[in-house]
Amino acid sequence: CGIVGYIGNKNTTKILLDGLKELEYRGYDSAGLALVNENDIEIYKALGKLENLKEKTKNILDENFELGIGHTRWATHGKPTELNAHPHCGQYSYIVHNGIIENYKEIKDYLISQGDKFISQTDTEVIVHLFENINNKINDTKQAFKDTISQLKGAFSILLVTKADPGKIFFFKHGSPLILAKGNEPQEILFGSSDAALIGLAQDAIYLEDGVGGVVSKDEIDIFSDNYIWSKLPSSKQFAQKNGYRFFMEKEIYEQSDVVSDCMLGRVKNNSINFDEIDESILDGINEIKICACGTSYHASMAATYLFERLSKVKCNVEVASEFRYKEPLLTNDTLFIVVSQSGETADTLEALKMAKNAGLKTLVICNVDNSSMTRVADATILTRAGIEKGVASTKAFSTQAIVLWMLSLYFAKIKNSISHDLIKKEINAIIQVPKVLIVENKLHEKTRRLSKRYLHGHGFFFIGRDVFYPLAIEGALKLKEISYLHAEGYPAGEMKHGPIALADPELFTIALMPKNTLYDKVKSNVEELSARDSTICSISPLEFELSDDFIKTNDRDHYMLEFFEMLVVLQLLSMEISIRLGNDVDMPRNLAKSVTVE
Ligand code: G6P
Repeated sequence: CGIVGYIGNKNTTKILLDGLKELEYRGYDSAGLALVNENDIEIYKALGKLENLKEKTKNILDENFELGIGHTRWATHGKPTELNAHPHCGQYSYIVHNGIIENYKEIKDYLISQGDKFISQTDTEVIVHLFENINNKINDTKQAFKDTISQLKGAFSILLVTKADPGKIFFFKHGSPLILAKGNEPQEILFGSSDAALIGLAQDAIYLEDGVGGVVSKDEIDIFSDNYIWSKLPSSKQFAQKNGYRFFMEKEIYEQSDVVSDCMLGRVKNNSINFDEIDESILDGINEIKICACGTSYHASMAATYLFERLSKVKCNVEVASEFRYKEPLLTNDTLFIVVSQSGETADTLEALKMAKNAGLKTLVICNVDNSSMTRVADATILTRAGIEKGVASTKAFSTQAIVLWMLSLYFAKIKNSISHDLIKKEINAIIQVPKVLIVENKLHEKTRRLSKRYLHGHGFFFIGRDVFYPLAIEGALKLKEISYLHAEGYPAGEMKHGPIALADPELFTIALMPKNTLYDKVKSNVEELSARDSTICSISPLEFELSDDFIKTNDRDHYMLEFFEMLVVLQLLSMEISIRLGNDVDMPRNLAKSVTVE
């Protein structure tokens, strides 16, 4: 979800809509605005993309509003309907909220027992009703807001406006990110759940900490805590534009070669890997690496477990952050705890990081967004330098994570002296070829475009591979699921015979990753078993495989990780082309959001 707020003399509606546009990819189930003028508050809501809200507000674009709040939603509690869209209202107050109120049922039951009526199915609505319930008793908006907050459990970053105290925005940050900024003009205050909505409009900002709230008006910023610092926002916006590509995802696939080069800059020098942001003492006393992540970042992390064990010779395991958090993990301080995240805001990953940090572990985040919540919690940060990723289906974030993790495994290998210099040199020679490997060849793109039409039906896909090609297979399956809505699973090729092969028939499509440099014969046997059960086989390999129904030929490379990156591009293109043929919205697929800041 995304939140924006504005007080000032400029065109409030326009500023809020522009801010929401920057945040839209974080949730596009619905969007809404509350616009305030003296004692009057107008509400506009629309289902679906922001365009619909723009259409509804086009007639009021020239009207003057003193302040306003806005929201773009990724549904958690309650279906994506207009009724459930934010802002939510009571009798005289309006709220936008990111997060989840865990005890909303208790509060709702209490308020209903007091005669309150609710119109939406959301957890958010209880906040504004609770605020009014308290304010009606004490007639003190500031205290009522504080008392309301003290009763909430869960995650709640909030902006609230009320006719009981017009001219003010009440705010609170807990869980999801929220930034307060002083505008470039006098008497101007802005809020955003990400700095993308604020850059260019403001310079001085507070990246609010959990548990910090307050109230602002044109003339005063009143923060109920000392726990804050003003810092500078980045001065220029990194524009993400499609530059002639049909979709952001397509542009981001094509950008991978460049961003991976950027990611390697200064880090690969003279046959050695260096990270200025960490030093060799990071491994002091460390016997194990534990990685936590979600989604695509989890898949990059899974691939890294092979590299950390193979090259750094450090025990390494990975867990999905949402599982890790509640399993009562045994944490010992000989473990280096790494989180991997494009956004640096994913709630499950962030909480896993805090758990590890509180348990006294050394923590490192590998992340694409500087100044994000995770970078502020972790002991050390390595930025992946992928630039803004707009496509909800992650592409360049994955390739930059994979390259950082590979480089890091070699950096650790150097510290631990775990493999020979010759081997390190060989690995580095491979690493520097990755940008070249990631250049998208026309021929390859065309091939995936042509093939895509043969894969629009059937009852499902198995993506299979071994070694690092197993996480890659899962990532390929996830890409297809996310944007084509077809059923796809990633499996270790050797595991098919233990159950999944029961599904094999001509309408089951197997996408087989068959690299030349790793376990080729083993994968081949696994694919033969599937072919013998009549599964339709599409092999991706530099070597022709006679049982394939379709064959995507990759280049002959001399390192399995180069094959990994080349096959990654094939999988990304294939899923994108299938999605395009199915007529789906490639960049904003249904039900998903770019950054999930709720549990
Ligand atoms: C969401 C996105 C995925 C992403 C995952 C983890 O579910 O839709 O594309 O992989 O979050 O996000 P992170 O920002 O932590 O990498």
